[in-house]
This record gives sequence, structure tokens and C-alpha cells, in this order.
Amino acid sequence: MTGRVEGKVAFITGAARGQGRSHAITLAREGADIIAVDLCAQVGTVPYPMATPEDLAQTVKEVEAAGRRIVATVADVRDYDALKEALDDGVARLGRLDIVSANAGIVSYGTLAELPEQTWQDMIDVNLTGEWHAAKAAIPHLRAGGRGGSMILTSSELGLRAQPNAGHYTAAKHGVVGLMRTLALELAPDFIRVNSIHPTTVNTPMVMNSATDPVGGAGGHQQRRAVAGLGRVPLRDRDHAAGRRGVARQVTGAYGADLAPGL
Ligand SMILES: NC(=O)c1ccc[n+]([C@@H]2O[C@H](COP(=O)([O-])OP(=O)(O)OC[C@H]3O[C@@H](n4cnc5c(N)ncnc54)[C@H](O)[C@@H]3O)[C@@H](O)[C@H]2O)c1
Repeated sequence: MTGRVEGKVAFITGAARGQGRSHAITLAREGADIIAVDLCAQVGTVPYPMATPEDLAQTVKEVEAAGRRIVATVADVRDYDALKEALDDGVARLGRLDIVSANAGIVSYGTLAELPEQTWQDMIDVNLTGEWHAAKAAIPHLRAGGRGGSMILTSSELGLRAQPNAGHYTAAKHGVVGLMRTLALELAPDFIRVNSIHPTTVNTPMVMNSATDPVGGAGGHQQRRAVAGLGRVPLRDRDHAAGRRGVARQVTGAYGADLAPGL
């Protein structure tokens, strides 16, 4: 199917690689222009290499190859003013806003008894506050359009159940559910739908690296044990039987059900 979001504009955080890049390319192939944001730098408490400016440039290339426009900016979702400026600039250049994918995120590991303060704070700032910032910056544009819209907050299966050794990630992703439920009520009068998605383990650089890879990683036993727990609940039974991880494309596929009506 093509053209399901023809002529619309989507704002995606964490768009340099992984699921964010997949969302950008898929929405572009379905007809949307893209406003992309990524930090393109390291967060000190994250135990694997994060995205680079070259990764964001690759997303730009692939969206343009799909025949759509993209405004890409290096910005930190923790910095509300910078994020708002990037989005405002994108809307000024592309003319409207219809879809929000609050996707940027990090993962790190440690028990709640021992977690360093900075590791907790970085997680809450990026994975919870960062998603609120994306929503807050977008709401005036969605309302101004007067056409409704769709907001999709990336949570995790750990937004629905607990995981030892990742309590800060689990708390932030549960927090995203509260954010989604409240935004859904507050924005319903404007015909703006708000949903959260809850991926299981997805084959992206966040987990496919030596610090966190549950299978081949050279990282510590604690990290491998924590991620191995994530891997127990697959995207689909068929994948489980085959021992496969989910791929970002499948997560983007989950957008289909949400984007189809009215967008
Ligand atoms: N990969 C998985 O197994 C998995 C499972 C469930 C949920 N998730 C969630 O999916 C989302 C996407 O993750 P992914 O798997 O594509 O990982 P990824 O590391 O490949 O991509 C995350 C992107 O977010 C960006 N980012 C991080 N902090 C940022 C900040 N402060 N400001 C702007 N950008 C920032 C990174 O630079 C990176 O490009 C995250 O919210 C993650 O928690 C991932």
C-alpha cells in the first residue's frame, strides 16, 4: 500500500538510525514529508555508541530517495527550547504538522539498589521528559492545523511489565503510558489521537552492540542477563519459534493501524 499519509508532515525524534530511521523512511514512502531530530552525540551513562551526524545524513538521503522532503536538525530532546526551535523551523519550511513520533531513547543497566544518580537522571530526562517535550512542542502546531492528528509515543514491553536490572528504564517507559493516557484525554477534543507502542527486542544498534547484545556481546554478565529477559517476549510467535529478533520495519508496521483512519 502507498500514499496512506500523502501530503502530511511527520515529526520524528531519534531519527538518525534504528526504529526512528525506519519510521522516517516508511512514512516518506507512504507520502509524508519528515521533520527529523537526533542528538547525534553520546550520553555519558549509555554503555554503547550512540548515533552520529553521519547516521542522520543517511536518514536524509533515504527519505529524499523516497521522493519526499526532510528537515533534519541535531537537537537534544532534553532541551525543550532547542527541540521546539527545530520543530518550529521544520513546520515553517514544510507547511504543516500531522504526525508525531516521540521515539528517541536510551538504555542502560543496573539494579535500583546500586544505580548511580546520573544513570537514573539521564534515563528519566531522555526517555520520559524527552517524550513530553516532543508532545508539548507539537501540540500548538497540531491544533493550529485544525485537522486533528496522530501522536505515537514509543514505550516498550517494559512499559507494561517489570524487568530486573533495568528499573530506571522500566519506570520511564511506564511513565510514557501515563503521558499517553493523559494526552489522549486532553487532545481528544482536537481530534488528535495519542497512542503508545510497546516493542519487544528490536534489531537496532541499541541492543546489537558489545555492551548489551544478549547473544554475542562481550559486555558484562548483568547486561546480557537483563537483555536476555527482554528477548523472551517476541514480536510474534512465529519469530519466537524461529529464534528471531524483531526488526525496526515490523515496529513501523504497527503504525499502520494507527495511521490508517483519518490520516
Ligand atoms: N531496540 C529495542 O529492543 C527496543 C525495545 C523496546 C523499545 N525500544 C525503544 O525504541 C526507541 C528507539 O530505539 P532504537 O531501538 O531505534 O535504538 P537506537 O539507539 O538505534 O536509536 C535511538 C535514537 O535516539 C537518539 N537519541 C537518544 N537520546 C537522544 C536525545 N537526548 N535527543 C535526541 N535524540 C536522542 C539516538 O541518537 C538514536 O539515534 C527508544 O525509545 C527505545 O527505548 C527499543
